[in-house]
Amino acid sequence: MTELIKVTPENISDLKKAGEIIKKGGLVAFPTETVYGIGANGLDGDAVKNIFKAKGRPSDNPLILHIADFEEAENIGEMNSTAKIIGEKFWPGPITIVVNKKQNVPDAVTAGLNTVAIRMPSHYIARQIIKYAGVPIAAPSANISGKPSPTCAKHVIEDLNGKVDMIIDGGRCDIGIESTVIDTTGEKPLILRPGGITYEQLKEILPNVEVEQHTRVENPAYKPRSPGMKYKHYAPKAKVIVFEGNALEKIEEELKICAAKNKKAGVFCSDNSNYTADLIIKWGTTPKDMAQRVFWALREFDEKGMDVILCEMPDKCGIGMGVRNRLYKAAAYDIR
Ligand code: TXA
Ligand code: MG
Repeated sequence: MTELIKVTPENISDLKKAGEIIKKGGLVAFPTETVYGIGANGLDGDAVKNIFKAKGRPSDNPLILHIADFEEAENIGEMNSTAKIIGEKFWPGPITIVVNKKQNVPDAVTAGLNTVAIRMPSHYIARQIIKYAGVPIAAPSANISGKPSPTCAKHVIEDLNGKVDMIIDGGRCDIGIESTVIDTTGEKPLILRPGGITYEQLKEILPNVEVEQHTRVENPAYKPRSPGMKYKHYAPKAKVIVFEGNALEKIEEELKICAAKNKKAGVFCSDNSNYTADLIIKWGTTPKDMAQRVFWALREFDEKGMDVILCEMPDKCGIGMGVRNRLYKAAAYDIR
């Protein structure tokens, strides 16, 4: 049985029970500022293995450990000077730092790697659960493996009801795509997954930061260093197609093809665009607006029975880089 609770700043002490569940080896899904996570005691290998079961996640894809203060980070990882610079600037917040791990981190968390991914979230619910649990919380996104990450409790319930002990409804996630993952163990700091903290923000404090060329678009032959990047990801049931550059004519053309084949087509586009389609979801005007809505929209198109989802793409700058990365994968690289 999964217990569902709603939490606001007024009843935050209700999270004590969530902390207890985690301490005892159970599973709790909770909101963070990026996406919802499914959490377990990060120092308990058996509890962590249950996350993989609930999500249907391949066991060679390591998890992030969530912490509430710097001391906790030092307990589980070797916080080198680069890691400290990043943490001091952007924690608590949407960035995950990969460092060499310490002995107490179970292999189930790191998939046997000698590095560990650490994040200090800023969401008040996430922080309070970590404090009540008194341990680092291992938490991947709270979706069935392969599906879009959930950004509201309804989407967590769809995927995980009956598979976890508790789901906490804390409303919509603010950022909407996952944290940036940055590896600090190599010669240069390397962004493994673009996300909430942007390349431009990192470049300001780390002039030598690089972005891993992990998308097939940029380099089809590249073997990803972040294990999660090789799997099918973020895919709704409908077929997703993404459109680069001046998308208007290309999307209108594709809508005609869908109509001829009797396929229901939805369009995910900026407020400034107009199409005639079975369902239009507008993402706003900036990459930040789009990030907030992208995972939510992919699931919404499914719920409304669309066969095909046609997406306008944001520019590569800022959080746009992360949005593009997620949409390329959702579209299985069908780029027009
Ligand atoms: O925003 C987020 O990061 C969310 C919320 C819940 O905090 N969590 C999240 O977790 O996105 P997950 O498991 O869906 O993605 C973690 C990513 C994966 O791509 C994984 O391969 C990578 O981090 N990762 C974890 N440990 C790693 C390590 N030691 N070295 C390299 N990559 C690692
Ligand atoms: Mg995920």
